[in-house]
Amino acid sequence: MNKKIAATVFMLLTVWGSAPSLGAEDPPMWAWGVTTPAPPRIYPAPPPASFVRPPAPNLDTTTRHSLPGSKFQFTEAEIASRHAPADWFPGDHPVMPEIVAKGRESAKPSIWACGFCHLPNGKGRPENANLTGLSFEYFVQQMYDFKNGRRKSSDTRKANTQLMVEFAEAMTHEEIVSAAGYFASIPATPWVKVIESDTAPKTVARGGIYLTLVGEQAGTEPLGNRIVETPISAEDFEVKRNPRSGFIAYVPRGSIERGENLVRTGGGKVTPCTECHGRDLRGLGQVPPLAGRSPSYLVRQMYDMKHNNRDGFLSMQMSTMLVNLTNDDFMFAAAYLASLKP
Ligand code: HEC
Ligand code: HEC
Repeated sequence: MNKKIAATVFMLLTVWGSAPSLGAEDPPMWAWGVTTPAPPRIYPAPPPASFVRPPAPNLDTTTRHSLPGSKFQFTEAEIASRHAPADWFPGDHPVMPEIVAKGRESAKPSIWACGFCHLPNGKGRPENANLTGLSFEYFVQQMYDFKNGRRKSSDTRKANTQLMVEFAEAMTHEEIVSAAGYFASIPATPWVKVIESDTAPKTVARGGIYLTLVGEQAGTEPLGNRIVETPISAEDFEVKRNPRSGFIAYVPRGSIERGENLVRTGGGKVTPCTECHGRDLRGLGQVPPLAGRSPSYLVRQMYDMKHNNRDGFLSMQMSTMLVNLTNDDFMFAAAYLASLKP
């Protein structure tokens, strides 16, 4: 081996083989649905003073769209209304309380309908969170963690987390309880399909998620060392916000088995996840469920907790052990967890 190659190999080995330490790595871009690294964040940094809410886009108010199985027709503006988003299938979920269906427009700053981002059925999207299957107590605790500045994203560009914080800050205790009661009453059902693969469809990063390219730009590319989580249909996702159309996650070959080992045994590095999250990983008391949830979401949360950007009332139990895990460990665990039946 010549000297230059040997030096490079040595460098790579020290990077890969060294004990992971806080701040040693960047947030994995695939989990944030971005294509450039996050600006450095020093904890506890305040949220960017310059945060401005994204202006409401100019949406079409004439063409009416429909979905198979729904008796309704909605325009784009109705579908993506921040204060009364379309509810395609009211029979799929309990009657929404006001805060979930409409938010509170008069609040300063205004609170958008929870159903706008998390969908009326609570199943959510990878760039936010699935709220089904969570316990009432866990839900309320998270709202107070957001309210009290204990939950931030490690990538300061993540505007929807910033918005989530603002909503929680503006909400009353009654509104929190009402939303928690609603979402906690909806059991989780499958929402993401996990496929082990060497390739993934070509995607474009938009709004914190990868969308599969269609038409002339469509194709496949090597998956590499990442998870590509993408809507089954970009049109259903973007234009119609179809609450029955889920996601596919392409994960590296072998990652499910590696994840299973880590999650069930701790891989010699951490306490097995099952000890707190339950044998079936569907949650235990106040400890949240992990089975069948978005792998991008799970990885962002683990990264945020490891780096103390999420340090709520219960987070310490996680953050102390996450120090022993790398971004790749997070990816393997998430691939396995997402593949489980919720
Ligand atoms: C602008 C989109 C948006 C809206 C509207 C929104 N959220 Fe969220 N929510 C998010 C995002 C993004 C996250 C993930 C935050 C993170 O990165 O940690 C989240 C996470 C959550 C979580 C944490 C879930 C978990 O497993 O820990 C809860 C609870 C929650 N939201 C409740 C609500 C409630 C209640 C409302 C309505 C008042 C609401 N959200 C409205 C974007 C939104
Ligand atoms: C000692 C108990 C304990 C162990 C062991 C544990 N967890 Fe957790 N986990 C928790 C608690 C408590 C929370 C809630 C943290 C909070 O409220 O901020 C949590 C939250 C999480 C979340 C965030 C879920 C959400 O809805 O936002 C993820 C992801 C997670 N754990 C993954 C794991 C994985 C993967 C392992 C194993 C490698 C693991 N946990 C092991 C106690 C534990």
